[in-house]
Amino acid sequence: MRIAHLLFAIAAASLVAATTVAAPACAPPAASDIESGKHLVLISHCNNCHTAGYVANTGAVPEDRWLMGNPVGWRGKGGTVYASNLRLVMQQLTEDGWVQLARVGEWRAPMPWWSLRDYSDDELRAIYRYVRSLKPLGTRAPDALPAGQMPPKPYNQLPDLDGCERAAVSP
Ligand code: HEC
Repeated sequence: MRIAHLLFAIAAASLVAATTVAAPACAPPAASDIESGKHLVLISHCNNCHTAGYVANTGAVPEDRWLMGNPVGWRGKGGTVYASNLRLVMQQLTEDGWVQLARVGEWRAPMPWWSLRDYSDDELRAIYRYVRSLKPLGTRAPDALPAGQMPPKPYNQLPDLDGCERAAVSP
């Protein structure tokens, strides 16, 4: 009888624990998620490319201008690409959609898409929550330009990595 009571008490306690821990589905993201997302964005250098003037000002760009895309293009053999306005991009994605996209997306150089595969789901969710916590401001980054069309200055020139550099690391 005592054991039965004990088991009942344990079951009841774990039920209480389970109900108190589970957050309602519509809960706003925790402040800690947003903070860790910001930290991940900072140490992953997303701003270096996705924030105008970030490199030129060695990071001294106010947070309210972060991740709004960059009008300075990257010109390579295949054309010129522009780092997207991530605030607007994330508005078009659900959180689960972003996690899935980060696992399969392949973008043009110099976007280091392969590194997105190294994040845990929780880290990707934190990045999403941070970016979504920023106001969806700014305009879309310029459309990519085809090969052979000169981009307006200034632009970054990418080296041709198809040749000896890639071969040098092939097994
Ligand atoms: C070295 C520069 C660079 C860095 C660092 C970088 N990006 Fe990018 N990113 C780009 C460029 C350029 C594009 C556009 C590529 C294209 O058009 O194919 C892009 C595209 C993207 C896209 C696709 C958006 C769309 O328009 O659909 C996402 C999402 C993205 N980046 C997220 C990130 C995140 C998150 C980080 C940090 C973890 C990051 N990027 C770091 C340069 C960079």
